[in-house]
Amino acid sequence: MAAFNIVILISGRGSNMQAIIDQALSGNLPITIKAVISNRPDAPGLALASKHGINTRVVDHEDYPDKQSFETALSACINEYQPRLIVLAGFMRVLSSDFVGKYKNRMINIHPSLLPQFTGLNTHQRAIMAGAREHGASVHFVTADIDSGPIIIQRRIPIEATDTPETLASKVLIQEHQIYPLAIKWFAESRLKVRAGSVLLDGEIQPQQGFKNGVNKQNN
Ligand code: GRF
Repeated sequence: MAAFNIVILISGRGSNMQAIIDQALSGNLPITIKAVISNRPDAPGLALASKHGINTRVVDHEDYPDKQSFETALSACINEYQPRLIVLAGFMRVLSSDFVGKYKNRMINIHPSLLPQFTGLNTHQRAIMAGAREHGASVHFVTADIDSGPIIIQRRIPIEATDTPETLASKVLIQEHQIYPLAIKWFAESRLKVRAGSVLLDGEIQPQQGFKNGVNKQNN
């Protein structure tokens, strides 16, 4: 079978990227990571990727006069690798609808909340402040509306009275590291379809999408 090529876009630490690399190395994820691309030259994740012999590239947004020219350079860089899937893993630039449209239904993102709750930044603190009893992470297809595309998988955890934004962030991150490789595996195995703004896994609508009282049934 032809290799299933992906590229990963990062801006920082790269722990989700590392989780994907680990799963690929252990043979659980049938993919080839063709390149890791960062918009920040100092992203610590670049060194992690290099250590595994993965191509690393920097397309620094500060080198371009405007968003359009940055995105033109970024998509030229992505397209060199002809990826079937583009994986945003802590990539901290808002992408234009033109850019997103080029990779419709083949660009995914991970977000540290139970979307549609808490789009944007500081999700852990906002969940605590809002008195939420549950929190979690979501993997979704990227659309022009930020953090709002069709949801592939969510993982929920309880918020304890003693939780701080920091403790919650580490608990959610553990879940992120499990669900992101899983979502990529489903995609690579052609098990996902997007229909009318919802994701189907093996033809079944995902239970989390109306997530109130939802039960997480996705384990494999
Ligand atoms: C993660 O919390 C992810 O959900 C969010 O940005 C963070 C990236 O962390 N989009 P890392 O770079 O993968 O460690």
